[in-house]
Amino acid sequence: MANIFITGMAVVDFVFSVDEMPQLAEKYRADNAGVVGGGCAANAAVAIARLGGQATLATRLGSDQLGELIVADLERENVETQFVRRIEGGRSAFSSVYVDKFGERQIVNFRGANLGNDSDWLKHAPKADAFLTDSRWVEGAVKSMELAIQQDVPGIVDAEDPIDPEILKLASHVAFSRKGLAGLANEEDIVKALLEVDSQFSTWVCVTDGANGVYSVNAGQVEHFPAYVVPVKDTLAAGDIWHGAFALSLAEGATESDAIKFASAAAALKCTKLGGREGCPNRPVTEKFLKENT
Ligand SMILES: Nc1ncnc2c1ncn2[C@@H]1O[C@H](COP(=O)(O)OP(=O)(O)O)[C@@H](O)[C@H]1O
Ligand SMILES: [Mg+2]
Repeated sequence: MANIFITGMAVVDFVFSVDEMPQLAEKYRADNAGVVGGGCAANAAVAIARLGGQATLATRLGSDQLGELIVADLERENVETQFVRRIEGGRSAFSSVYVDKFGERQIVNFRGANLGNDSDWLKHAPKADAFLTDSRWVEGAVKSMELAIQQDVPGIVDAEDPIDPEILKLASHVAFSRKGLAGLANEEDIVKALLEVDSQFSTWVCVTDGANGVYSVNAGQVEHFPAYVVPVKDTLAAGDIWHGAFALSLAEGATESDAIKFASAAAALKCTKLGGREGCPNRPVTEKFLKENT
């Protein structure tokens, strides 16, 4: 079983289904509500565990009740939480999400507080087959990419906006979101922007572009991998599932092209389900879908 060490955000969202988006300072009634685990890195870790990898998540949480809830949820999903650090006096990140009858979302996000920047404990990370990091916690991301170099295994970045170039200099593989790429490049055009960034960094690069699929650079040429066409219900967490599946596939020794196809299949299947990471498919379902769609 491939071991992946994942660094970054773990949060919880309080999701309310409402008839119309709250606009006024008054009371609104929710038709439905749920408490949903999220965060790029945590979602990717859950995806890896569901897809048959061993996922160890390193993240910073507060010494609060929400921290407990987040850890319990990860453990239920078979994510190893030994590297989750509960910071004394820190407060965990959480959001309030309103979803209206059109599926539009309004999000109020609290990014957590007093979580510090220490990433020293990551040096005790075990031997892994790949390291994956999101881009929000810069110190953790840098440390994780340094570990990948030391262990001579893939170091993969989920590069959202804003992205610190120091992380990119250390990575072996960078998968940008469309906004992450646009925030870094001076080009509007996605293909030109990708080529510009490819020429600036020695890492392998690609960009995920929602229903338009993925563009990657291979020997100076841009290659396009269309997204799988599925009945889409909800794209929440699709990008995070994609990054988890991509890292797992590389860790198992797949080529970048095959890892993109595997990740795109897992992400497309997630889009057919309502909700975030709880809509992530397992390995047999993903393999079957890939077989039927190539
Ligand atoms: N509507 C969709 N239909 C099929 N696949 C999708 C769809 N939206 C996203 N995906 C898959 O998920 C990947 C990541 O989605 P994307 O929206 O680019 O991530 P992010 O939200 O992190 O920017 C896409 O490259 C694609 O493979
Ligand atoms: Mg993303």
